[in-house]
Amino acid sequence: MTTSWWRNAVIYQVYLRSFVDSDGDGIGDLEGLRLRLGYLRSLGVDGLWLNPCYPSPGADHGYDVSDYTDIDARYGGLPAFDRLLTDAHGHRLKVLMDLVPNHCSVEHPWFQAALAGDREARERFIFRPGRGDQPPNNWRSMFGGPAWTRVDDEWYLHSFDPGQPDFNWRNPEVGEYFEDVLRFWFDRGVDGIRIDVAHMLFKHADLPDWPNHPEYNILSQNQPEVHEVLRRWRKLADSYDRDLTLVGEVWVPSVQDLALYLRPDELPQAFYFDLLVQPWDAAGFRASIDRGMEAIGSTGATITWTLASHDAHRAVSRYGLVSYTGGPPNRPRGEVDVDLGVRRARAAMMLLAAMPGSVYLYQGEELGLPEVLDLPDEARQDPTFLRSGPADYGRDGCRVPLPWNADQVAFGFSTKPETWLPQPSWFADYAVDSQLDVQGSTLELHRQALKLRRDFDGDFTWLPTERPDVLAFRRGDLIGVTVFGSEPYPTPYGTPILASTEPAPGTVAANSTAWFRA
Ligand code: NOJ
Repeated sequence: MTTSWWRNAVIYQVYLRSFVDSDGDGIGDLEGLRLRLGYLRSLGVDGLWLNPCYPSPGADHGYDVSDYTDIDARYGGLPAFDRLLTDAHGHRLKVLMDLVPNHCSVEHPWFQAALAGDREARERFIFRPGRGDQPPNNWRSMFGGPAWTRVDDEWYLHSFDPGQPDFNWRNPEVGEYFEDVLRFWFDRGVDGIRIDVAHMLFKHADLPDWPNHPEYNILSQNQPEVHEVLRRWRKLADSYDRDLTLVGEVWVPSVQDLALYLRPDELPQAFYFDLLVQPWDAAGFRASIDRGMEAIGSTGATITWTLASHDAHRAVSRYGLVSYTGGPPNRPRGEVDVDLGVRRARAAMMLLAAMPGSVYLYQGEELGLPEVLDLPDEARQDPTFLRSGPADYGRDGCRVPLPWNADQVAFGFSTKPETWLPQPSWFADYAVDSQLDVQGSTLELHRQALKLRRDFDGDFTWLPTERPDVLAFRRGDLIGVTVFGSEPYPTPYGTPILASTEPAPGTVAANSTAWFRA
């Protein structure tokens, strides 16, 4: 049996709006991406995941879809998508689409009909009468504020922004619709689908109040019925004669819950966020890796590692946090030591790249970009910020358009100086052209690590270390050592084949990872 390509693949996440703008409107597009496929190929990734680029009014930058079988004209429409897909395949890069099945946009024709009062159309969403002047229950939107918005004498449920009405997955029409959507993209040639909030499709049938607010509302997500849908989708994907993957965005309370989504007849992959939310600490990292390997390994799936996304603060700024003042675990706020953060993010990447399983790499992480924490409030566009304000500044800071050329307008992202989110002047220091082929740069480190990673295979085992702040492991012929603390660690393994920070002879540097050939 040949191994599925996705089990060990490195997939680059393209937040399209911020990748490259080819037509000078300040927003990234598919042609811009197509022209930079060579960059992705030379980075050494196996494919890319495209954040939603369907027609959308943009209440949540594309996660509010008004037409699931088209591409937004601002990104180049379907012709540009087809050209991208053909060229990506020409570069031997797989392409994953992003499916948003929990909710659509208020501009989706079904919701427009529902707004016009069509009863059948309302049944495709979750419309309920209120309690007097109050919403039907006390659920909160993930972006802050109530999860319900009133339309005449009823309210509709939106787990996110009011511009994103939740579908009623208890109505079979919804399931049939999404199977057609999946077929549409598979028939068009894509290699897989990332499933947005895959655990949220079903809500408790009675929509009761959630007494424990603000903790994780188990009545609005992770309901058992969802597994049946995912099984159907797995069957559908497996019915093609190409090896297709489905990767779930699944935020559930425990790794054991996550493993249920990865049973052999369900999702092939689901992001392992448990590690993403760990602070820089050897024991925490090790425990998370062990938890994942035990629970997910028992299903036969591999772990889908990730350190960053368009929803989290960049790894540099999370690992460089020297004092915490608030915010959720994936977007902690406080004082950041950027140099320290860059060192640690490089080390974390090398730790992950050595693991069995696949790795998702968010655009800009290969440049060591820090979070843009100093965006002016008036520039911010994320509904999280607009609905939660200072309680959660949201996700704009990791979505700022990429710097390609230190000396060009908009750092080579666009010909228009005003990009959709403003780029800070210090982005010049991280531009692709100031790192490409520069030995020791974060970009070069990624290229070397992703290339070397292909040489190693085999079982993973921890190796003993003499200090609690050091993790050491072996995978096949590779020995990896990660030092979380601030003192170098002497090792007997000789000269590393790659190190995230140049060490003194016979040691692994503080806050770094080194790889040795066994
Ligand atoms: C998860 C996506 O990653 C995020 O960006 C989006 O806001 C929500 N789902 C709602 O679609």
